[in-house]
Amino acid sequence: MDKILVPSTKKDIYESSDLVPEYKMLKTNYSPQEKILLVELRENLVNQAINSRTNNSTTNSDLLNDINNFLYLKLMKNDLDIKYDKNYLNELSNKFFQDIIGYGAIDPLIKDDSLEEIMIIGVNKPVFVYHRKYGMMKTNLIFKNEMELVELIDSIARQINRRIDQESPILDGRLIDGSRVNATIKPISADGPSLTIRKFKKDPLTIIDLIKFKTISSELASFLWLCIDGIGVKSANAIISGGTSSGKTTMLNALSSFINPKERIISIEDTLELQIPHDHIIRMETRPPNIENKGELTMNDLVKNSLRQRPDRIIVGEVRSSEAITLFTALNTGHSVFGTLHSNNARETITRLTNEPMSVPQIMISALDFIIMQNRIYKSNGESVRRISEVAEIVGVEEGTIQLNKIFQWNPETDKVENISIASKTIDEISKKSGINSEILFNEIANRQILIEYLVKNNIRSIYEVKEYIEKYYIDSDFLLNKILLNS
Ligand SMILES: Nc1ncnc2c1ncn2[C@@H]1O[C@H](COP(=O)(O)OP(=O)(O)OP(=O)(O)O)[C@@H](O)[C@H]1O
Ligand SMILES: [Mg+2]
Repeated sequence: MDKILVPSTKKDIYESSDLVPEYKMLKTNYSPQEKILLVELRENLVNQAINSRTNNSTTNSDLLNDINNFLYLKLMKNDLDIKYDKNYLNELSNKFFQDIIGYGAIDPLIKDDSLEEIMIIGVNKPVFVYHRKYGMMKTNLIFKNEMELVELIDSIARQINRRIDQESPILDGRLIDGSRVNATIKPISADGPSLTIRKFKKDPLTIIDLIKFKTISSELASFLWLCIDGIGVKSANAIISGGTSSGKTTMLNALSSFINPKERIISIEDTLELQIPHDHIIRMETRPPNIENKGELTMNDLVKNSLRQRPDRIIVGEVRSSEAITLFTALNTGHSVFGTLHSNNARETITRLTNEPMSVPQIMISALDFIIMQNRIYKSNGESVRRISEVAEIVGVEEGTIQLNKIFQWNPETDKVENISIASKTIDEISKKSGINSEILFNEIANRQILIEYLVKNNIRSIYEVKEYIEKYYIDSDFLLNKILLNS
């Protein structure tokens, strides 16, 4: 098993002579003979697969058996001057097996859950990783020849039944473990192959984690909870906007735990990233064109199709193109919508929505309730924090301009996302539709805040625990709140 040396304290890191701290991997050391054997084994397995014309039909134990047999024959023949020894044979079979079913040299990085991203930027350059705690780090892994890197990218493409070659030099997909992968080869990446893997978090960040990280306040979370569930009369729509890797998808995922359990959700993504513990959800994924350039199913196709599936809420992983107009049509016909969008501020979100290629008519925008802006703020030491920088409501269109009402804003001095407006259009609407006056609604928000703060204080944070408590709250809020108050 490979070992990874991750610096345990900040001091260790900054003792590294470079500005970018080092992430040291202990690589599997194969002897030159073992390296030859591994190359031969790979060729042998490829030939076997071609001859049998089957695709991935062998099970893992078949594969291990094949490797074992191959090595047995090789060692018995003794061409490479390695003596047969049963223990050694088994050990080597297992190592090769890991190498083949895993991700070769980057396998230990894929297995490390503390990494957010793995970045290969070409040949003869270190592989970089983004560590959840230490930020950008440089590993001691360097791919020395282009073929090796192309082979790795090829094997990843094969694992997910895709291809990458000169004709289609971009690979964008999802690994079997859910991680997002993007690879490019020449001619589009001029300096050679690149590979970027956004690691899938097995234990996703929840709203409780995001409150602990100060990305969102418990007050804002409780306010959004009430608006999103809309006490059964009007569930709010929201677009989460922000720059690349600012945490939009994570926020969308965390806020989805507030969707009323009675809603029927259809989620649509380019690569499945969302982990929503809702009981009634249909997950859809777009499909790229096949080798003959046929069979593509775009985001827009799937959004259109979702309208025939009688959804209460449509969640679109990332809104970028013509699906926006279909989505806003859905919004204007009474469906609830959640989505993310790339932009730097609330005004720019509107500009992007109303211009090419999204081209949503201004009048349709007013059906959207919230724009939630997510921001990634870098510190001088390479670490970064993520914050909701503002929450704006869309209040209407006046003289051809969409009017925004900022209700929450991040205050850099207090490092808090603070409420800056007493009035809220969404709360007024819920109040009108339910006949409950807004004071009572704000009281309800305060009650939900008690529950949320209790979960934060007691580190009740996993996706399933949060779901359980929210459901308990819906079943009997008084009972749960009394229990909490007695406990605190
Ligand atoms: N509030 C947060 N605090 C700490 N880490 C976070 C936070 N939000 C997200 N992350 C981590 O940052 C990484 C990027 O997050 P995410 O995929 O949500 O960003 P994104 O804005 O959707 O990115 P993209 O622009 O690529 O769609 C993930 O590894 C995630 O676990
Ligand atoms: Mg995203």
